[in-house]
Parts: sequence; structure tokens; C-alpha cells
Amino acid sequence: MVSPGKTPTIALCVTGSIAAYKAVEIARLLKKAGARVIPLLTESAQKFIGSVTLSGITGEAALTNMWDPSFPGELHVDIAKRADVVVIAPATADLLARLAQGRADDLLTALALCTQSPVIVAPAMHPSMWSHPAVVRNVSTLKADGRVTFVGPDSGEVASGDVGMGRMASPETIAAAALACTETLDLKGMRIVVSAGPTVEDLDPVRFIGNRSTGKMGFAIAERAAARGASVTLVAGPVSLSTPRNVTRIDVRGALAMRDALWQTLGEQLDRADIVIMTAAVADYRPATTSNTKLKRTAAPMSLDLVPNPDLLAEIGAARKTPRPVLVGFAVETDSDDGVVALARGKLQKKRCDMVIANHAADSFGRDDNRATLVTATDAHPFGVLPKTVLADKILDHAAAKVRA
Ligand SMILES: Cc1cc2nc3c(=O)[nH]c(=O)nc-3n(C[C@H](O)[C@H](O)[C@H](O)COP(=O)(O)O)c2cc1C
Repeated sequence: MVSPGKTPTIALCVTGSIAAYKAVEIARLLKKAGARVIPLLTESAQKFIGSVTLSGITGEAALTNMWDPSFPGELHVDIAKRADVVVIAPATADLLARLAQGRADDLLTALALCTQSPVIVAPAMHPSMWSHPAVVRNVSTLKADGRVTFVGPDSGEVASGDVGMGRMASPETIAAAALACTETLDLKGMRIVVSAGPTVEDLDPVRFIGNRSTGKMGFAIAERAAARGASVTLVAGPVSLSTPRNVTRIDVRGALAMRDALWQTLGEQLDRADIVIMTAAVADYRPATTSNTKLKRTAAPMSLDLVPNPDLLAEIGAARKTPRPVLVGFAVETDSDDGVVALARGKLQKKRCDMVIANHAADSFGRDDNRATLVTATDAHPFGVLPKTVLADKILDHAAAKVRA
């Protein structure tokens, strides 16, 4: 675990497998997430990828030699002290054998023995190697020792074209596992419910009324809350996003279904959540009737009868009898900055929320970043343009502070 505000340092150790090229992508993902990455290659790994590639991606010298005369001290001890996480990806069968024996005859194995930080091992090898009794024995020894965490391998096609268990887990999975070790679990014990995405209101079996929400903001909040240790339920309208790790997801379609899912999750007394964050763009209206068969085209003009949907945020605000759960709404508008804040404050009062995140439709929908302002009864705090995951952390910081107040 890394102290809040500190940049995590991750030692990325690469061994001699064809999958070594995928370590470059792992390095890129870790850097993108804000980590400092120290690359380390075994002698065999250098036959598969150049240390220059890893140095270039990470901005750090790639370490290859325990006996480096230019380093005044014990390199493996130094890295062991600096690395918050050690990731070995790909990990060869030979490396697993050396780890299981507790050998320390190169920089990587010496580091693995020396570190007190979490060690993540991502094996990659031919399925026949992975299922060999010697490898099975080494893996079970390492699991019994409890000093390393295995990520993968997966089943699939390996370099030779054969199919089976032994393919390295995806770079995304390995990077996520490494980053999870660096999280401060400051939201552990908190129950957070997030609504996300659009709702779509069906006209007939093939047509619907919808909106442009992609769900990215709500999914980012759910992802960050879970990564920080909260227990998270995500009620999602139709979106094409994958479920963040350790998040319970309930998929819904229309506003009425979203309302049912939210109340089932929150409980009638709203006593099953500490924070509710309503990012979903719930349709204000739905068709008065939904046809069971496809509506046919005619030459005549057509008008639709729409009925108002319930206001899900206002219903929760009105039902709240105590300061819990802390209620966060979102206001997407198309007005000027001042206008958006004024509209957000109006929404805050009318819907009895603790805070409303005000943003412009053009700055928000479908984007990976957002320009938002946190509006409370007394304050307006502009965040500037931030990646949605970073904005998610800021919103969670404010909401969690309110829970603890
Ligand atoms: C082309 C080639 C591909 C290899 N791929 C793998 C592999 O995917 N997994 C593995 O365990 N060993 C693989 N090996 C064998 C390792 O490179 C060899 O066992 C080496 O000694 C491992 O050294 P290291 O663990 O110190 O990096 C491969 C060897 C070659 C020549």
C-alpha cells in the first residue's frame, strides 16, 4: 500500500518468454496510471526485447546486472526498498523454479527474496510446460509460501499456435493487479451505490428514445471506489463498457427498471448505502405505450405521446431522513459556466442533494475527461479539465469527507 499522494514505484521484471514484448504494454499502462516504473530484464529477456525499448517507455534505466560496477551498493536491496510492488511478467518456467527454490543468483531472484512488497507473477509458457508436474510442484510451493500472487495464466493460443493453459494474462489485467496493490484502501467499509449510463425507453421491439450518455463517468466512479476498498453496486443503463473489478453490476434498460434496481439496492429506509452517486442520464419522459410489434411506416405524420418518468434523484432526496446516505447528483447543461452552476444549485435544493457535479454536455458526453464544478449549498469548486478517473477520485474524496463529518 502506498501513502496518499505518493507516486507508486513498480519494478517491472521481464523474463525470457516470447510474451516479453507484452511487457512493453504493461509498462505503458502503469506509466499512464501515474506509476514510476523501474524495468528489469533477465539475461534471456534481453534476447527477446531490447532494454532500450523499456527505458524509452518508462524513462528509467533498464536494470540487467546485479554486478553493475557503476552502482555503489547492493542494487537488489536498493530496488527492494524502492519498489512498492514487484511485477514479474512474463514469468518463465525456469524463473518459477528458481523462485520456488529461493535462489538469488541474478538481480531478479535476489530482488524477489529481498522485497517486503507484494510480488505479482504472471506466468507465460507452452501448455505442456505449465501442466508438467515439476512446474505444477513449483507453483504449488510458491502458493504455499504465500509470498507471491499469481495472475493468470489464461487459456488460449500460445506462440506456437497450440491452444491450452499457459498464455500470459492480458497486460491490462496484470497492470490492474499491480495498481490494486498500490491503492490506499481509504474507502474500505463504505457502501457506495452508483447509477450510470443512459436509460432507453422503448417504443417498440426495435426502436427507443435514448440520450448520448456513455456511462464513462459513472463507471470511472465505480472503478475508483472499488479500487479504494469500497463495496460498490453499479446500476447501469445500456452501455458498452466492461464491469470494473470488484464491482457488483445491475444492468437495466428504462427509467422504471433503474428505479426498481436502485430501491432494491438501497432498501426502503436507504440504510444500505453510505454514499449514492447518481450519474445516470435518466430519460425525463417515456412513451405512454410500448408496442409489442414493430410500428409500421405510413405516409401520415406521427406524434408520440410521452409521459413523465419519475425523478429518481428527487425521490431518494425526499426519502432521506438522516444525513446518510450522502447524496451526489449530476447536472449536465448547455448554458454558460455561471448558468450551469446556478442550475446545479437549483437542482441541489430542489432534489435535496448534498452536492451536485455541474458539467457541460459538450465537455462530458463520450469523453475520457470532463470539466466539472462541484456545487454545494455554499460553495462552487471548479476542478478544471480532468481525466474521468481523477475526477472520480475527487468526487469520492468530497463525498467520503461528508460521510465522516
Ligand atoms: C524462442 C524461445 C521462446 C521461449 N519462450 C518461453 C516461454 O514462453 N516460457 C518459458 O517458460 N520459457 C520460454 N523459453 C525458455 C526460456 O527462455 C529459458 O528457460 C530461459 O533460460 C529463461 O530464463 P529467465 O527465466 O532467466 O529469463 C523460450 C526460449 C526460446 C528460445
